[in-house]
Amino acid sequence: MSKEIEWSELGFGYMPTDFNVRCHFKDGAWGNIEKYDTEYINLNMAATCLHYGQEAFEGLKAFRGKDGKIRVFRLEENAKRLQHSCDGIKMAKLPLEKFKEAVFQAIKLNERFVPPYGSGASLYIRPLLIGTSAQVGVKPSKEYLFVVFVTPVGPYFKAGFKPTPMVILRGYDRAAPLGTGKYKVGGNYAASLAAGERAHELGYSAVLFLDAKEKKYIDECGPANFFAIKNNTYITPKSESILPSITNDSLMKLAEAMGLNVERRPIAEDELATFDEAGACGTAAVISPIERIDDVDENKSYIFSKDGKPGPICEALYNKLRAIQYGDEPDIFNWNSIVE
Ligand code: PLP
Ligand code: COI
Repeated sequence: MSKEIEWSELGFGYMPTDFNVRCHFKDGAWGNIEKYDTEYINLNMAATCLHYGQEAFEGLKAFRGKDGKIRVFRLEENAKRLQHSCDGIKMAKLPLEKFKEAVFQAIKLNERFVPPYGSGASLYIRPLLIGTSAQVGVKPSKEYLFVVFVTPVGPYFKAGFKPTPMVILRGYDRAAPLGTGKYKVGGNYAASLAAGERAHELGYSAVLFLDAKEKKYIDECGPANFFAIKNNTYITPKSESILPSITNDSLMKLAEAMGLNVERRPIAEDELATFDEAGACGTAAVISPIERIDDVDENKSYIFSKDGKPGPICEALYNKLRAIQYGDEPDIFNWNSIVE
């Protein structure tokens, strides 16, 4: 079957694979990791994940190199971030070792779905942790289920590595300043859907959310962090209501290694007018260069690409990151775990 997959044509979508792995939390302890061949979960209709949003997930990728080896990018960081999300919405925390073991098993069991080197595609890994106890009172579940499934993917934004327009829509907030924006929980994505769909209707690839309190500072995109380049400096927002992106952290380290200055600080919208390049970054988005940002309610526009091409620093960062992920260049920061 994998012979029929057009690897280089893949978009960012769900494709069933052979197996997923699961682990249950019951009576105060996590059980063993088990292999499943069904895509379905048997769930009580009163489970807390369905009613009160006790749901957190992760997203990471595995890449097949020229040497045939499969590399998983920054697995430990995703494991830690899931624990952080669990703390945030009061779910049982999954031990880091269990996370790693489950991710490795899910990859190995579906090895035939890891896209070949050179296709530009990768294996997207989606860990998911949900509250499963049946209860109607608003309180944390006693039982949890952790699942890891995988699916081969291509670029998140249809354009791939090409600048696309993004939009500020002042009528929507994604996350409150002291709310759940810094956790990777389903509720944040539900809160972003109406704005995201409106953006698509208007011809934009994504929404760029402003901070909810002052509507003055750049927060992040629906599925990715924001960064910009100015005067040999990589600048990215510091905010309590955005997801700490592992891709952004990697780009900051790569930028520094390339001789750029790195600033993580609040970015007022007005400053957009001074940037040479801008991009969205994330596991799914990798780097998605931004062509322009329209603040439609204020009738303002900030342009970063006039010729339809990514800026030179966005391109250099993109190439460097991809080269490390595919094993083409030395893994100087020790980011890859090889699947043995
Ligand atoms: N911000 C949001 C809201 C996201 O959903 C994602 C995707 O995971 C990111 C940022 C990027 O994070 P990462 O680079 O860890 O994938
Ligand atoms: C990711 O980049 O892994 C994401 O989770 C973004 C989006 C698909 C939700």
